[in-house]
Amino acid sequence: MSSEFKKNHVVAIDDFTVDEIRTILDLAEEMTPIVEGKKINKDFEGKILATLFFEPSTRTRLSFEAAMKRMGGRCIGFARPGTSSAKKGESLADTIRVAAGYADMIVLRHPQEGAAQLASKFSDVPVINAGDGAGHHPTQTLLDLFTIRKEKGSISDNHIGIAGDLKYGRTVHSLTKALSMFETEMTFISPPSLRMPKEIIDMLKRKGVKFQEVKNIEETLSNLDILYMTRIQRERFPSDEDYKKVARSYHLEREMLENSKDDLKVMHPLPRVDEIKADVDETPKARYFEQAANGVPTRMALLKLLQEV
Ligand code: CP
Repeated sequence: MSSEFKKNHVVAIDDFTVDEIRTILDLAEEMTPIVEGKKINKDFEGKILATLFFEPSTRTRLSFEAAMKRMGGRCIGFARPGTSSAKKGESLADTIRVAAGYADMIVLRHPQEGAAQLASKFSDVPVINAGDGAGHHPTQTLLDLFTIRKEKGSISDNHIGIAGDLKYGRTVHSLTKALSMFETEMTFISPPSLRMPKEIIDMLKRKGVKFQEVKNIEETLSNLDILYMTRIQRERFPSDEDYKKVARSYHLEREMLENSKDDLKVMHPLPRVDEIKADVDETPKARYFEQAANGVPTRMALLKLLQEV
């Protein structure tokens, strides 16, 4: 499997088989003592990771950089396109060609769907998609799966509620595809205008995955093992008027959790705005900050498998 990884880029979660996902998650578990500073690792000494972020990020960029540095590597890159020559009109293809000459791997976030796919055609070093518009966010999904397995003991046999911006949300598109590879049930919770895209619903039907679509969290909360909340993403709407029609259309607060299973876990890729009230944070059900921390071992595992060091 790792020789396949060496040749490949990571554009979408569909690039992986179930066995490959399990290999990444198993290796991520082994990385935990390094993340905690209990073990020193220098596997990436002399290696360089380029993080090219054409869109804002806190977790994805910092956790990739922490992952690389925890293994003795170094990082170059930019966090704002305004500080790169994209500002002067350089094409993405040229930026990628150049960065591939400076680094051993490239992590790319870009507002255009399909940007990582395009970048992979112009790079002879691995390109990792760190989010392309409303398209894919495969490494978020890997850490989500790692979190589900850690919290619940397995990915299969869970009923997962996925709430929020299901239309434009790349994290939930990738997560739904991944969960469909396991024995799970899903309930999609969103305003009617932000439902899961038809092609994903059709894929679930073809595969015979059990799922429902509902409008409110309260309709389904008591059935769920995991509630995966997401932000209504203002930046993805065609106009602010469209955004305002659905903004604040749902939220989770502590009182609502009284009507949930004792072992429910609440996840969120973050950032949140107002969809999870702060009073949920102190409950043992809130796992979103642990989820964000899981980005480091998961991305360490992925980097290692891609680089075969
Ligand atoms: N979850 C996630 O992608 O967060 P950032 O946008 O902060 O990277």
